[in-house]
Amino acid sequence: MQISFLPSLPAASASAGILGLAALPGVEWLGGAGEYAASLGAGFRGALDRAKFEGKRGQSAVYGTGGIRPHTVVALGLGDEPSADDVRQAAGILGRHAWKEQAAATTLGLSGHADAAVEGFLMSQYSFDRYVSEPKPAQTEALILVGEDDPDACEAGRVVAEAVCWARDLVNTPSRDKPPAAIARQVEQQAAALGLRAVAHDRDALAEGGFGGVLGVAAGSDRPPRLLEVWYEPEDSRAFAVFVGKGIIFDSGGLSIKPAGAMETMKTDMAGAGAVLGAMQAIARLRLPVKVLGVTPLTDNMIGPLATKPGDVLKTRNGKTIEVLNTDAEGRLVLADALAYGAEQGPDLMVDLATLTGACKVALGEKIAGIMGNDDRLVRRITMIGREAGERMWHLPIPDDYRSLLDTPIADMKNIGGRWGGALTAALILKEFVGEVPWAHLDIAGPARWTKDEHYQAKGGSGYGVRTLVALAADLARHGVQPERKV
Ligand code: BES
Ligand code: MN
Ligand code: ZN
Repeated sequence: MQISFLPSLPAASASAGILGLAALPGVEWLGGAGEYAASLGAGFRGALDRAKFEGKRGQSAVYGTGGIRPHTVVALGLGDEPSADDVRQAAGILGRHAWKEQAAATTLGLSGHADAAVEGFLMSQYSFDRYVSEPKPAQTEALILVGEDDPDACEAGRVVAEAVCWARDLVNTPSRDKPPAAIARQVEQQAAALGLRAVAHDRDALAEGGFGGVLGVAAGSDRPPRLLEVWYEPEDSRAFAVFVGKGIIFDSGGLSIKPAGAMETMKTDMAGAGAVLGAMQAIARLRLPVKVLGVTPLTDNMIGPLATKPGDVLKTRNGKTIEVLNTDAEGRLVLADALAYGAEQGPDLMVDLATLTGACKVALGEKIAGIMGNDDRLVRRITMIGREAGERMWHLPIPDDYRSLLDTPIADMKNIGGRWGGALTAALILKEFVGEVPWAHLDIAGPARWTKDEHYQAKGGSGYGVRTLVALAADLARHGVQPERKV
């Protein structure tokens, strides 16, 4: 899509079939668009009245002008002191109305969040139609922003939106068509083009390296696993972050097999890995001065003659042993190895993303991730960054005294902790593998999938996490590992 700037509203609107006019409460049109709005006359005012449009956050109203350019005007409410995500969502609403439209214009870029406007619009144009015989028509070709040229904001929004859509594609791809080796190959090729270094560890290398968690989960599958490392090492860097993503390509539950209904969405159990790999691309394209390692264990969780059985004990990368009592609690097994490996690299901080527990979905619903960790300041920092980025999360505890729920006489821990607090006992296991590294864990079982088309979100894989990780890397590049504490 081509994105351009035009300084005046009449000029911009005359170039587009659809125009999005942003408003603050009291229907105060952004960027001095009041005169233009008035020129649309009583018909427009009537459309606003019918929709009870007051400029509040999330409100919109659609008006057919009867003309050609623009033939449609969409009023977009931003609410008081609009946040980046208010703008992103409004741009998404405009984007939905702009489907099949050749060009769209908008005043949303004047909100101070031009990057979010671009991001939201591009994200709203997403559709996954690779397997559909008659795909929907192509996306909008041009977005015209009213305002001064701001190529940097524009480019940042585009890079992030493209990374999100890349991650969504990977998540939405049927499991059959994304075996671990194929994902690794695709990422290796991309890495070469982006100046990233990718290393894929195969079964032999994993055995050699003592990655018993990944191998234990992969044991029931014919498709060999990979542990994929992607390094971004710019010449100057202010921090070193490790991002880890759960990459279960299909989660059948293993021998502790899931009921059929619960399996329907399990091709998306690699959304954590998708987010990390998407974020790595964007961070490289934006040339952020921060060193980042992405680690993604990639494997199916299947049944088969050699599958790990309840009661089996796995020895992980850091030497700790886990008794597997439920093979469906597999994410923590692959993350154990990946986190231990990440911690070995000596980062300043580590963040993992995983579609880890149904319990987290029960606690926080489908739109909000759980965030847990061993460093409250890091958790708070990521939560705030996520809010700006439009990725909601809420702090859950990792209670030390719950550790006894994992006790077993057979090994250092078992892989399940009983009926209650499943998101927390899962995090307690992960904590055993991060050592002293400041670490945050995002349980994205809910928001990794969006259940309906909504503003810039589309039903299916959401790409959740890409935006937070990129924004975190940007924040580290700007402020370093320990930002000045706000008093
Ligand atoms: N991938 C699932 C978690 C999940 C469930 C993600 C629903 C998205 C939607 C995970 O591997 C799993 O099966 N977790 C079990 C853990 C239990 C056996 C301790 C769960 O949550 O039921
Ligand atoms: Mn599972
Ligand atoms: Zn899983």
